[in-house]
Amino acid sequence: MSILVDHCGVEAEEKKVHDVEWSEKEIELGFVVPHANSFGHTFRDYDAESQRQAGVENFYRTNHINQTFQFVKKMREQYGKLDRIEMSIWECCELLNNVVDESDPDLDEPQIEHLLQTAEAIRKDYPNEDWLHLTALIHDLGKVLLLPSFGGLPQWAVVGDTYPVGCAFDESIVHHKYFKENPDFNNPSYNTKYGVYSAGCGLNNVMLSWGHDDYMYLVAKENHTTLPSAAMFIIRYHSFYALHRAGVYKHLMSDDDFHNLNWLQIFNKYDLYSKSKVRIDVEKVKPYYLSLIDKYFPDKLKW
Ligand SMILES: [Fe+2]
Ligand SMILES: [Fe+2]
Repeated sequence: MSILVDHCGVEAEEKKVHDVEWSEKEIELGFVVPHANSFGHTFRDYDAESQRQAGVENFYRTNHINQTFQFVKKMREQYGKLDRIEMSIWECCELLNNVVDESDPDLDEPQIEHLLQTAEAIRKDYPNEDWLHLTALIHDLGKVLLLPSFGGLPQWAVVGDTYPVGCAFDESIVHHKYFKENPDFNNPSYNTKYGVYSAGCGLNNVMLSWGHDDYMYLVAKENHTTLPSAAMFIIRYHSFYALHRAGVYKHLMSDDDFHNLNWLQIFNKYDLYSKSKVRIDVEKVKPYYLSLIDKYFPDKLKW
């Protein structure tokens, strides 16, 4: 069984917002469109380009309208029960292979290789931070939310940038204009700088828009992982571009958050290049990652 991700999207507008981060954004959104055909010719189809632009805009419009404080609360409660399935981390990696991005030029490359590329790149440069290798392997596992057995959530509730709800939406958030259609935008409880939060309360106490990041964080936490807090921070905030790229929402951060943000920024550099053409021999590296899973997670996790 395969879950196909819509074949649409654009680069131009997004590029303005996230600049060098584009390749990661393409992957996250599943809006990758090959820039060159198999003969190396660059596509210059302006109709297709404007179509992709409309695709991304539409994605964010739906996302921004629907990610309300109440929606996030509901999703966290619902998925926080972890009553869907029991499986190991590695089984989930393999399950993620069923999420096929049909717009991905490397269709024949399983998702697991993509995860391992990031992990192996980090392992090379930070050989002693084994927790970081494992974090790279698991950070996108929450994308199983797209699968029917996990509720088959729509893309806008799984991928894309994340941001706090319950306080004002910062203007640096991609396609901010669409928040005007979000009911929270005009709610005085939720539309001020601090909203329902307080200065320096810590991101741990802030609710972020619902997606694969927060879900995987919940899974790791509720299954009592022994991963350090920096790992949990990376898993939970790797799509929070307003934080790690635009540098806003600092007024809600605690000292621990500032420390962990350094690790997130290191991680993001690798996540960005994870679509490298370096092929990974999964069977060869698998024992190492199984040993890390064994070190930081129980055999079976509730999902
Ligand atoms: Fe992600
Ligand atoms: Fe990623």
